[in-house]
Amino acid sequence: MDLSCTMIIFGGTGDLAHRKLMPAIYNLLHEKLLPENFAVVAVGRKEKTSEGYREEIYHSIREFSRFKVDEGTWNHLKDRIYYRTLDFLQEEAYISLEAFLRDKADQYHTKGNRVYYMAVAPEYFEGIVDKLHRHCMGGDVAGWQRVVIEKPFGRDLSSAKYLNDKIVQVFQEENTYRIDHYLGKEMLQNIMVLRFANMIFEPLWNNRFIDHIQITSSETVGVENRGDYYERSGAMRDMVQSHMLQLLSLIAMEPPNDLDTESIRNEKVKVLKALKKIEGKDVVENTVRGQYGSYEADNGKTPGYREEVRVDHRSVTETFVALRIFIENFRWAGVPFYIRTGKRMPEKSTEILIQFKTMENILYFKDKQLQPNILVIRIQPMEGVFFQFNAKEPGTRQRIIPVEMDFCQNCRVGINSPEAYERLLYDVMRGDATLFARWDEVEYAWKFIDSILEGWKDHIPVFPNYEAGTWGPKEADELLEKDQRNWINR
Ligand SMILES: NC(=O)c1ccc[n+]([C@@H]2O[C@H](COP(=O)([O-])OP(=O)(O)OC[C@H]3O[C@@H](n4cnc5c(N)ncnc54)[C@H](OP(=O)(O)O)[C@@H]3O)[C@@H](O)[C@H]2O)c1
Repeated sequence: MDLSCTMIIFGGTGDLAHRKLMPAIYNLLHEKLLPENFAVVAVGRKEKTSEGYREEIYHSIREFSRFKVDEGTWNHLKDRIYYRTLDFLQEEAYISLEAFLRDKADQYHTKGNRVYYMAVAPEYFEGIVDKLHRHCMGGDVAGWQRVVIEKPFGRDLSSAKYLNDKIVQVFQEENTYRIDHYLGKEMLQNIMVLRFANMIFEPLWNNRFIDHIQITSSETVGVENRGDYYERSGAMRDMVQSHMLQLLSLIAMEPPNDLDTESIRNEKVKVLKALKKIEGKDVVENTVRGQYGSYEADNGKTPGYREEVRVDHRSVTETFVALRIFIENFRWAGVPFYIRTGKRMPEKSTEILIQFKTMENILYFKDKQLQPNILVIRIQPMEGVFFQFNAKEPGTRQRIIPVEMDFCQNCRVGINSPEAYERLLYDVMRGDATLFARWDEVEYAWKFIDSILEGWKDHIPVFPNYEAGTWGPKEADELLEKDQRNWINR
């Protein structure tokens, strides 16, 4: 497979390029996965030379790469990195960019193959794609041209549709890579293996044996300096529409016919299509919103969301969401999927917890409930699988206690899991879109989210309603308590 290409990073001076993209490119070279015929052209507004830019990137790679920088590897990469100062809103900027790209294609023998990476604020996606089109730079050059669109892909169904219509005029669906970096995480890719390569799991993976599923993605940090972005997004658009629904579709999908891109995406989209719509009075019954308040600790005060930089002091943006979701198909009818995500929680963690139904207690202690089996798939920062089952407590007394098997993937010596962006950039270059969202996945996810957002307009909670460092508002606990369940914070 020929991976030769030029990667054009719009937003080359930004946070994403420095912390994730450039270190990922370095790591790919370190792993000998980068093609020999390769160049990066970073685009930004700030005035700087390619030499100056390389110097900055060197420091970023030292700070953020998972490998210690090897000078030989860096020197090889350095000579392939270029910086262009240009304002991507200016029409004429694309004329000089095109000439530069042609020149670099000749120099590095990249055969006209290009990856355009949109590492810019979402409001610019459409304008850049449009200008690439007008200057015959996307789909009109020799070789292939692919576009990588960062999240968020729209802010509701209609804006996502509008953006998609613009993109398809320039790039075919197979050349459009809507990135959801969660899909590049090792344990997400492992979900399918766990489910479909283990006899002990797949036969039990349905409403006969599973009581419910909890998906949690929590952060300890607040919005940091991303207040202006977050004000327009909130936890629902930032996390649920993309990452959380992707996790849910992988956990709930039917086995695909084979492992090719479209077979897997076809099964994922069926789950999103089968989500029971939450609308009208069901919105109050099945959803909870939260916003963190300030917190007074020994070492000073942590600001509440409304006190963060570039946040309205009367903001009603949610920093926490909990949902109760049902999937209307034969496998999952009646099984609630509880999902929650929030900022300023007690720990940083993303995990999926599968609670099995409790065994009928016929033989042991008829007066006492046996504990259910619990399977936890840990996505980040720990990667692994935890399983809880019942065993006899050692000793002469007949007691049953829950015991654990705990497999920690990234605790093992010698395991240095690739960063999600490494895997994803590599897949773009080799033309594998399996770990990217297809348009209909995005579409059905927005359909589901839109009706909740609509319902929320009628009921605005009194914010802030949870203290920083806690698991969210009390209503999130009540969401499960009314089903005689509770969140399992381990
Ligand atoms: N940062 C993350 O960890 C992260 C994670 C997931 C998704 N994302 C997504 O990735 C995208 C980029 O995020 P970011 O955090 O990297 O943003 P950022 O730090 O604000 O960077 C924005 C970039 O856009 C450039 N830019 C803005 N206007 C320009 C113009 N008119 N002409 C040329 N360049 C222009 C800036 O160039 P100058 O600085 O030179 O002006 C800068 O390089 C966003 O869509 C975000 O949602 C980011």
